[in-house]
Amino acid sequence: MASTTEVPYKKIEKICCIGAGYVGGPTCAVIAYKSPHIKVTIVDLNQARIDAWNSDDLPIYEPGLDEIVKASRGRNLFFSTDVESAINEADLIFVSVNTPTKKSGMGKGFAADLGYVESATRSIANLATSSKIVVEKSTVPCRTAQSMRRILDANGKPGVKFDLLSNPEFLAEGTAIKDLLNPDRVLIGSLDTPSGRSAASSLVDVYANWVNRKQIITTNLWSSELSKLVANALLAQRISSINAISAICEATGADVDEVAYACGLDTRIGPKFLKASVGFGGSCFQKDILNLVYLSESLHLPEVATYWKQVVDMNEYQKSRFTKRIISSLFNTLSGKRIALFGFAFKKDTGDTRESASISLCQYFRQERATVALYDPKVEETQIWLDLTETAPQDNLETIKKQVIIAADPYEAAKNADAIVVATEWDMFKDTNLDYEKLYSLMNKPAFIFDGRLILDRPKLEKIGFKVEVIGKASHDIGYE
Ligand code: NAD
Ligand code: UGA
Repeated sequence: MASTTEVPYKKIEKICCIGAGYVGGPTCAVIAYKSPHIKVTIVDLNQARIDAWNSDDLPIYEPGLDEIVKASRGRNLFFSTDVESAINEADLIFVSVNTPTKKSGMGKGFAADLGYVESATRSIANLATSSKIVVEKSTVPCRTAQSMRRILDANGKPGVKFDLLSNPEFLAEGTAIKDLLNPDRVLIGSLDTPSGRSAASSLVDVYANWVNRKQIITTNLWSSELSKLVANALLAQRISSINAISAICEATGADVDEVAYACGLDTRIGPKFLKASVGFGGSCFQKDILNLVYLSESLHLPEVATYWKQVVDMNEYQKSRFTKRIISSLFNTLSGKRIALFGFAFKKDTGDTRESASISLCQYFRQERATVALYDPKVEETQIWLDLTETAPQDNLETIKKQVIIAADPYEAAKNADAIVVATEWDMFKDTNLDYEKLYSLMNKPAFIFDGRLILDRPKLEKIGFKVEVIGKASHDIGYE
């Protein structure tokens, strides 16, 4: 590990964050909140996003975020589209732009599109008139810092020096503020040179305003970059592993929650991230694993690539397996039936829908000629239409709207429905919070519930009259009770 102790370092007074998204916004808002002596300016090219950050209606929903932003905005936290001024006055710049999977060209479907990182890096090189610490906050392929350094060195003004750090973010959406206020660890990678170690110490000093120094770890740059991809790959691998087991449970009468609990009590395995589901979503797990797959292939390690690719393949399998179970339970046809889809976000407590399993389910149901009535407490209508048109380019919005209804509440969604499908684990969908007797009375009979998140009390709902099918639990028809 690189050592940052007893290295002279510069105290950071001004920070700029390029990218006001799910990571840049909350992360730098928390830095400002916990470090009133540091001026933090978050910039973005997207004027609407910046306007929203400056309004009472923040562009992302995240529990606790409103309070943090309100406490610091206008004091030492600023949101702006003036990229040049923010770069120029900052001592330290976070690059927190998007790194989506490439949609075309070499590495299409696997490699990360580094266009936004390159463009932000070029802006820094072209605009900076004094030396800066530049921090990779975005999740990037291993050795991206080297490319950024080359761009900075080739384009920077004479006498302007850049130190590069890697400081990947581990927050999860829905718990971002909790994760940022109390992180398991903060990871900072630097070059093992006096100037690299000094830059790392400056960043350590920022986090030390609220994080215990023992939890701030410093490594070499490449370990830091790779650790981020590996952390996501390992987390997603656990979900795909338990989802693979859920298929065995459904066929044998074992109960996946009981299996996960029994295995998770082994302290070497641990209980977290063993909740079977309809499949993981979110902007990063799939993207980062595919990135790791591409890296492995580029390094001529096909066996390693195949190993990690299987985590994504299993996730796709889980979504189609769940859909097949729904079709076969509904007498092998969805044609003309109404499916109430509960939840569109990729997990609870976020309005984010990127790679949400609900999008795939909705498209599968449409292909089977069902009508989908969906309800989500946080996702905006415009986002739903955007997701459905982007994932079915052959259909225009009018065609999609003939098959998809956005309901005002779960009861409206369930009216005349043949089945409820729980796709997101929002607390409001639990049988303690919704009136399932009322839902039952509104539905066609037999009324089915497919619990893709294991949040419902099956015996209680069966007592009402529902036919209940749960991920990782056998159907009653199989006779394994
Ligand atoms: P996002 O799409 O929400 O935000 C990125 C923002 O960067 C956008 O608002 C975009 O307009 C802006 N941007 C792009 N290029 C720019 C430029 N040249 N100048 C100024 N602004 C620019 O993305 P995100 O979810 O915040 O993710 C950012 C990075 O963090 C990704 O690499 C992602 O993998 C990583 N990450 C995300 C999460 C998460 O929970 N979303 C968690 C950890 C890490
Ligand atoms: C994940 C990681 O947890 C973060 O550490 C990381 O910083 C982030 O990706 C990132 O790099 O973007 P996030 O995707 O926001 O965070 O949310 P998770 O809580 O990890 O959930 C991801 C998906 O897995 C969700 O669809 C969730 O419902 C699903 N999941 C999670 C399960 O199906 N089972 C589980 O046991 C846990």
